[in-house]
Amino acid sequence: MAEITVEATEVPAQLPQVRVAVLGAGKMGGILLQAFLKQHLFAPDQIHATVAHTERALALSTQWGVDVSTNNLEAAKQSDLILLGVKPLQVPGLIAEIRPALTTKKTLVSFAASVKTSAIEEYAGMEIAVVRAMPNTPSALGAGAAALCRGRFVSAEQMELAERIFETVGRTVTVDEKHMDAVTGLSGSGPAYVYLIIESLAEAGVKVGLPRDIATQLAAQTVFGSAKMVIETGYHPALLKDMVTTPGGCTVDGILELEEGGLRVTLIKAVMRATERAKQLAAG
Ligand SMILES: NC(=O)c1ccc[n+]([C@@H]2O[C@H](COP(=O)([O-])OP(=O)(O)OC[C@H]3O[C@@H](n4cnc5c(N)ncnc54)[C@H](OP(=O)(O)O)[C@@H]3O)[C@@H](O)[C@H]2O)c1
Repeated sequence: MAEITVEATEVPAQLPQVRVAVLGAGKMGGILLQAFLKQHLFAPDQIHATVAHTERALALSTQWGVDVSTNNLEAAKQSDLILLGVKPLQVPGLIAEIRPALTTKKTLVSFAASVKTSAIEEYAGMEIAVVRAMPNTPSALGAGAAALCRGRFVSAEQMELAERIFETVGRTVTVDEKHMDAVTGLSGSGPAYVYLIIESLAEAGVKVGLPRDIATQLAAQTVFGSAKMVIETGYHPALLKDMVTTPGGCTVDGILELEEGGLRVTLIKAVMRATERAKQLAAG
């Protein structure tokens, strides 16, 4: 798959006193790390990252200009804020590996789906601050949606720091931990649903005679613009839909087809299924 290039939005103040580790700098961890660099949130020498494979560590180290290794313990030792970016099932092993480096002064931020803050506290075996986050891939363009929740030992200051981190890559909300699997099913997985919708709209454009590149641009910009309308006007989506739907016009015919095809129910069921799956991930 092509590498995602991260674009910066605005430049927040640097956090010169914080040293950060991204353990598991894969797709999501890599997006966050690159955003930190682009936004100058952390200087390159404040960041330590790890991956599983040595060759990949070398390549990423050259690409990003930061220390990337396979040594989780060393990276954790050198950091105050430790981001956990491995797959859910790998979290217990990773914590066991870095445990000698953990102290109650450090903050763990996990964005592994499904893994509860209480489980991470337990693996760590101490009263350590654990923030759980669920970001999504549009974070690469500063247009991410992330939900955060706090473990039992997180101070206001530590929560603020975690929020700052995710605000560099998009919109951030704080929720109760009981909602985190729902967030995973909605906005964590959501970009995939929306890509499917854009792909289908573009295919439809081709079907009615538009060149594919034009159809894709129109479809993507329409989704982008409509999302912007919902966010920036604050109007209910139904009201915005009514504004497009002229009585006796063509949009209402299109909507009728969508209703008959069960678009709403299908999307609702997709989020429900993904939420259910999110509940199981940490258990394998
Ligand atoms: N992708 C998303 O849209 C998304 C959204 C929200 C949350 N998440 C969460 O983010 C986490 C990672 O997902 P991803 O999609 O980014 O997967 P990914 O691209 O496979 O990234 C996982 C990374 O972990 C590294 N890794 C594996 N074992 C390791 C170990 N023992 N020590 C250090 N690094 C290790 C891998 O290294 P190598 O590269 O060398 O194999 C890889 O770089 C998951 O828990 C997922 O739930 C993902």
